[in-house]
Amino acid sequence: MKILIVYYSFEGSCKYVAEEISKNLNAEILELKPKTDVKTKGILKYVFGGKQAFSNEKPELLPLEKNINSYDFIFLGTPVWAWNYAPALKTFFSEHKIKEKKMALFCCSGGGKGKTLENMKKELCENEVMGEMEFVNVLKQTKYNMEAAVGNWVDNIMETF
Ligand SMILES: Cc1cc2nc3c(=O)[nH]c(=O)nc-3n(C[C@H](O)[C@H](O)[C@H](O)COP(=O)(O)O)c2cc1C
Repeated sequence: MKILIVYYSFEGSCKYVAEEISKNLNAEILELKPKTDVKTKGILKYVFGGKQAFSNEKPELLPLEKNINSYDFIFLGTPVWAWNYAPALKTFFSEHKIKEKKMALFCCSGGGKGKTLENMKKELCENEVMGEMEFVNVLKQTKYNMEAAVGNWVDNIMETF
């Protein structure tokens, strides 16, 4: 089974989780990269990022370096922005029709995922979602806790095969 982990990450949490999944499954990774991302990681990120999220913007992405259609199982991860998936995923969904895949969805948040996972599932309704997870405050957790959290989640999904 060919597995791909697709993610966007602004501050590193989703990147960390994606890399941890990859370590567990020896799977390939594809990072979604906006051509121009929100410029500041300071407090103003909430203003600029929030504006992007609330005004439903779809930031242009750099061309994808992998062909999603050639994988059987796709993990998809996003930070939570304004209780939803990040704008980069909005672009991704509008440009790439994913169907008939097995999938697992994750989001990284500060504890308030809102409708993130629900809304992702709506976009991915032609796929079989085998697992979903909210990882909270990833960068404040110990490496040990995160390894266990990601490892257990991945094991549970893979046990269903
Ligand atoms: C613009 C913006 C909006 C956010 N909105 C939420 C939110 O609605 N709920 C939440 O729990 N965290 C929210 N966060 C926090 C991020 O989801 C959290 O820090 C996440 O771990 C970031 O993932 P990343 O490090 O992969 O970018 C927001 C962060 C930003 C920058």
